Amino acid sequence: MADQRFGGIKIRSLYKIFGPNPSAYVDAVRKGMTKAELNHTHGHVLGLRDINIEIPSGCIQVIMGLSGSGKSTLIRHINRLIDPTAGEVLVDGADVVKMNDTELRNFRRHQTAMVFQKFALLPHRNVLDNTVFGLEVQGMPRAKAVEVAMKWLERVGLKGFEQKYPNQLSGGMQQRVGLARALSNDAPVLLMDEAYSALDPLIRMDMQSVLLDIQNEIKKTIVFITHDLDEALRLGDQIAILRDGEIIQQGSSQDIVLRPADDYVSNFVKEVNRGRVVQVEAIMEPWRAGGVSSQMTIPVGSTIEDAVRMLASAPDGDVTVVSPAGQPVGIVNFRRLATAMVNAPASVDRNSSDLAAVH
Ligand SMILES: Nc1ncnc2c1ncn2[C@@H]1O[C@H](COP(=O)(O)OP(=O)(O)O)[C@@H](O)[C@H]1O
Ligand SMILES: [Mg+2]
Repeated sequence: MADQRFGGIKIRSLYKIFGPNPSAYVDAVRKGMTKAELNHTHGHVLGLRDINIEIPSGCIQVIMGLSGSGKSTLIRHINRLIDPTAGEVLVDGADVVKMNDTELRNFRRHQTAMVFQKFALLPHRNVLDNTVFGLEVQGMPRAKAVEVAMKWLERVGLKGFEQKYPNQLSGGMQQRVGLARALSNDAPVLLMDEAYSALDPLIRMDMQSVLLDIQNEIKKTIVFITHDLDEALRLGDQIAILRDGEIIQQGSSQDIVLRPADDYVSNFVKEVNRGRVVQVEAIMEPWRAGGVSSQMTIPVGSTIEDAVRMLASAPDGDVTVVSPAGQPVGIVNFRRLATAMVNAPASVDRNSSDLAAVH
């Protein structure tokens, strides 16, 4: 059993109420008492309400929401830095909530690693000694720990910086150390709470690429918190959107961008570069035999942006969208792609229903 460390996570009916007597209010909250009422009338804060998430092993789960929506509260339940008021947090089938102190210590040390927004590097340790820190705590012999740490430092692009101290590094480089330290642990679950939110946009994109690149090899279960939708869409295999401690929507990037569940989600989606997220099959016309003269084809799964790039050098007119087996499945053209980049079908519908509502 001990080596079955795959990192699949199931969160079931999780509630968190902050205050002196949380369990007194959990039934009321279950029955629908609002966060505002709980706060104003009873002086307790609703942290999370009825959270249910399944994160398959090897998946990047993004948790997204505005400040105060409960993101940190949620991720801190996964390694039980916070005890829930009710509910289960299963990692590889074991309920973290029920673990005793020893089990919990082992679980935290071996099953999870965290990357922090403020890096949390030890200022008097150099890069190498910061990176081996977790392995030292685990009792790994120094030579082995250094070998592991050096591998990850190289992998995050810090080879040659081992002897530097945190204050000699930029924010982006410090976060690379944070990532190398977490990866050195080789825990199946990686928890990242706004790990990139303090970084400049370009550095941040770099770090997203580093993470995606490494994830291709290591296939950890990563819970990544952000309040930035572009980051969420780029990284998330699954995205959950939180508001006031509740999950408003769960789905893939496509689900979120094409079918935002409500105005809160639409507001996030409004600013997004749809061309990078939406795939051609979401916007193509149905296939009709004989309708397309061009020999050119676009594979299913191409983003609109990719398709535009492919069509940019081709003559005008319709082209065929094909399945991986080479079957024609639909038709697109440049105009259709360009329109889809700027229009949001879901919000067009919403606008027309809003318009209808006010008249
Ligand atoms: N220890 C605590 N005591 C009381 N309220 C808390 C505590 N921690 C968080 N909260 C409240 O829970 C809600 C969610 O907070 P948090 O999880 O930090 O949000 P986020 O990470 O999305 O910004 C907020 O209303 C916050 O004020
Ligand atoms: Mg937070």
